[in-house]
Amino acid sequence: MFFVLVCAETYNPDEEEDDTESRIIYPKTDDQRNRLQEACKDILLFKNLDPEQMSQVLDAMFEKLVEGGEHVIDQGDDGDNFYVIDRGTYDIYVKCDGVGRCVGTYDNRGSFGELALMYNTPRAATIIATSPGAVWGLDRVTFRRIIVKNNAKKRRMYENFIESLPFLKSLELSERLKVVDVIGTKVYKDGEQIIAQGEMADCFFIVESGEVRITMKRKNKQDVEENEAVEIARYSRGQYFGELALVTNKPRAASAFALGTVKCLVMDVQAFERLLGPCMEIMKRNIANYEEQIVALFGTNMDIADASE
Ligand code: CMP
Ligand code: CMP
Repeated sequence: MFFVLVCAETYNPDEEEDDTESRIIYPKTDDQRNRLQEACKDILLFKNLDPEQMSQVLDAMFEKLVEGGEHVIDQGDDGDNFYVIDRGTYDIYVKCDGVGRCVGTYDNRGSFGELALMYNTPRAATIIATSPGAVWGLDRVTFRRIIVKNNAKKRRMYENFIESLPFLKSLELSERLKVVDVIGTKVYKDGEQIIAQGEMADCFFIVESGEVRITMKRKNKQDVEENEAVEIARYSRGQYFGELALVTNKPRAASAFALGTVKCLVMDVQAFERLLGPCMEIMKRNIANYEEQIVALFGTNMDIADASE
């Protein structure tokens, strides 16, 4: 069941005509609303929305239960909804020369299904539930009205910054714009932890403003982290971090903390893998520097980069 609310706003010729729009509202129980808010709190595409846009998005979302083995999305189909994961695990398959290959997974968090809605293209991957679960759907019309419109604003804000980043220079202009479309902005308070050494990783960071301090605890012979953390790097505007664990499929090699207020652009691992392939050579060269630095500091290499595919 859902309601359509027609906003009877005063006509303002300066606003776009779709501001007098039909709004979709799915009523929710308190439990559903709490779960929905929890599921949406880290969704990068929602990060730049204002409170009114966010509340319209939450109102329009509907719960969909899924069974193990169910195809939530099939590659090649038209896009109907964007999905945020409430619970459950999902495999991502992309066809290459007619053969489907598993290129990644979602584990009880994240979102998918934005590409077909943003670019009016067929679904680019098949998403199969590997356990019983639930997702929150957002219909195409609401997604385009709010998220796609907001992306135009994001492009105006970040296009020049993304253009200026040397490590993205191997990307075509159109690919750099796609990076802008999927990033979200996160703000950290002075001293706040951005990354914790040893945790599993699901995103990549570019510093927009402020300074980030990277610290590392060395490991003893039993592979257990020692207490004392040592500062190993500082990053400021235009520099990136958090790529190593995504490239090596290992836990975070170091911790990151905000020094003063820090604003970062954040990208999820799926977008990182899909979009940043051409920049990998530059990033991998940097990993060799990390190893040299660790040997110089700790006298051992701590195996940060033996990639497990
Ligand atoms: P869409 O093309 O609408 O539907 C399939 C979704 O899978 C896609 O949006 C992305 O959200 C998600 N996805 C995750 N990894 C990939 C990938 N490597 N290539 C394409 N789509 C992906
Ligand atoms: P990641 O392991 O994902 O999370 C911690 C980040 O710290 C790491 O990626 C790198 O981006 C960054 N870093 C900076 N210097 C080093 C270093 N010497 N060794 C490992 N990571 C480093």
